[in-house]
Amino acid sequence: MLAKVEELLKEVTAFNSTVAEEVEQFRIRLLGSKKGEITALLKEFRNVPVEQKKEFGQKINTLKKLAQEKIEELKLGTENNSTSNHDLDLSMPAAPFEVGGRHPLSVVRNEIISIFNRIGFAVSEGPEIEDDWHNFTALNFPEEHPARDMQDTFFIDPKIALRTHTSSVQVRVMENSTPPIRTISPGRVFRNEAISARAHCIFHQVEGLYIDKDVSFADLKQTLLYFAKEMFGEQTKIRLRPSYFPFTEPSAEVDVSCQLCSGKGCNVCKHTGFLEIMGCGMVDPNVLENAGIDSTIYSGFAFGMGIERITMLKYQVNDLRHFFENDLRFLKQFKTAY
Ligand code: PHE
Repeated sequence: MLAKVEELLKEVTAFNSTVAEEVEQFRIRLLGSKKGEITALLKEFRNVPVEQKKEFGQKINTLKKLAQEKIEELKLGTENNSTSNHDLDLSMPAAPFEVGGRHPLSVVRNEIISIFNRIGFAVSEGPEIEDDWHNFTALNFPEEHPARDMQDTFFIDPKIALRTHTSSVQVRVMENSTPPIRTISPGRVFRNEAISARAHCIFHQVEGLYIDKDVSFADLKQTLLYFAKEMFGEQTKIRLRPSYFPFTEPSAEVDVSCQLCSGKGCNVCKHTGFLEIMGCGMVDPNVLENAGIDSTIYSGFAFGMGIERITMLKYQVNDLRHFFENDLRFLKQFKTAY
């Protein structure tokens, strides 16, 4: 019987197969509960003479353990095999995965940047925490101007605040370069306003600045008309209404013809046919001088728009708060935009 054990040990060591059925048959032949050869040897154990019991017992246990381990090992091999041979269905549709999209404000910001890039405007950026000089004083804000008031501005200390517009970046550009200057400054701005469907304390702007010799109001108007047509379509008209900003003179508000009614008048444009999109004007000579540019040689125009406002008009979004709530049902609608 010992010889039989030795023989099986050799056989187990030598056995190899990657075919699941062969491994299973091997298992039944050796370890099967009825006819397994090792099972039979174990049953024989009680007939082994006492003096051989110890040796035989150790050997048969080793054999059993080895056979079990071998079979487990080979089974793993055949399982992997069988998946690649039999269970892989190449015609099965792949598991769907979600493709992300850009935030609508980023989509529109990129589009504004690209529209102005095409006519030579470069992008400039600046700090969101700004000093009084760049946000107000250099831009010709009188000391007692209400925009400096605590109601509108988030002050960090009396001379430092979160910027209320990206005009501050343009002051920095004027201070650090010589005309001609053609730049736009996109960025986040902050105002101490109650959050509603039309206003938020954080929003985004793109402001533009062009300074050179002989820049006129006609240049401004033509630039804005080009922008409006590129952004809202060839049929778009613009209208300028006189307005006031401390840093521009003359100043104007820019309206575009309503997209919904093509200027005929509807609920969205409150039956005026037009929607306000931005402020603009000729840079006040005081501002040029404050930034070290000779106002007797150079003139320029500036404009500024809210990205939320443009996005709301372009995609007919009726509540500005949607942009800040990260509701996927809203954001997913912009997946195809880039
Ligand atoms: N800075 C102004 C604002 O925040 C917009 C503006 C920019 C107006 C440039 C005129 C010229 O509302």
